[in-house]
Amino acid sequence: MTDYPLPVNGGLVFYTSGPSETMELGQRLGEGLDAGDVVALTGELGTGKTCFAKGVALGLGLPPSSVITSPSFSLVNEYEGGRATLYHMDVYRLESLADFVSAGLEEYFYAGGVVLMEWADKWPEILPAGSIRVHFNWEGESERGHILKLQFSGLGSSSFIRHREV
Ligand SMILES: Nc1ncnc2c1ncn2[C@@H]1O[C@H](COP(=O)(O)OP(=O)(O)OP(=O)(O)O)[C@@H](O)[C@H]1O
Ligand SMILES: [Mg+2]
Repeated sequence: MTDYPLPVNGGLVFYTSGPSETMELGQRLGEGLDAGDVVALTGELGTGKTCFAKGVALGLGLPPSSVITSPSFSLVNEYEGGRATLYHMDVYRLESLADFVSAGLEEYFYAGGVVLMEWADKWPEILPAGSIRVHFNWEGESERGHILKLQFSGLGSSSFIRHREV
């Protein structure tokens, strides 16, 4: 992982070179999250969003034995046992905003837990103000593996930003 985040356009950029580093970064974000936070994950297919979500779950205090899998079919998976309930959603398969609303997914934003939403740029207008955004894209190869670029914005006063050393 890069030694420090690079501030870009008011956000932060990290590079990871393997799934364990991406998970570790997710864990660091998760450690600073509180009930009510919404984290919007965006990026092409297979760019590490679910891998990062596993780290967030650890950071929220869920046991490492919790199996965080992509909720592609169930739309939302709910995990209890951490500092806040984790709602992990994936809206990839939803065709319209009307489907999102009729599936009751909007209610999770206000359910008092932490929401992680994959494919969150489908309908950007539904994201609550103050959502944290993380954008994932491949940035090439290194001898250690695929390099992933993670761009964070909307961190506000999150403790994530105050602990710059990674
Ligand atoms: N630097 C890296 N960070 C994260 N994952 C990586 C990295 N290098 C390789 N990988 C691999 O990339 C894959 C990412 O899969 P993951 O399911 O997390 O992506 P996703 O963005 O959630 O996909 P989807 O769009 O299908 O939901 C995993 O197989 C992981 O091992
Ligand atoms: Mg996924």
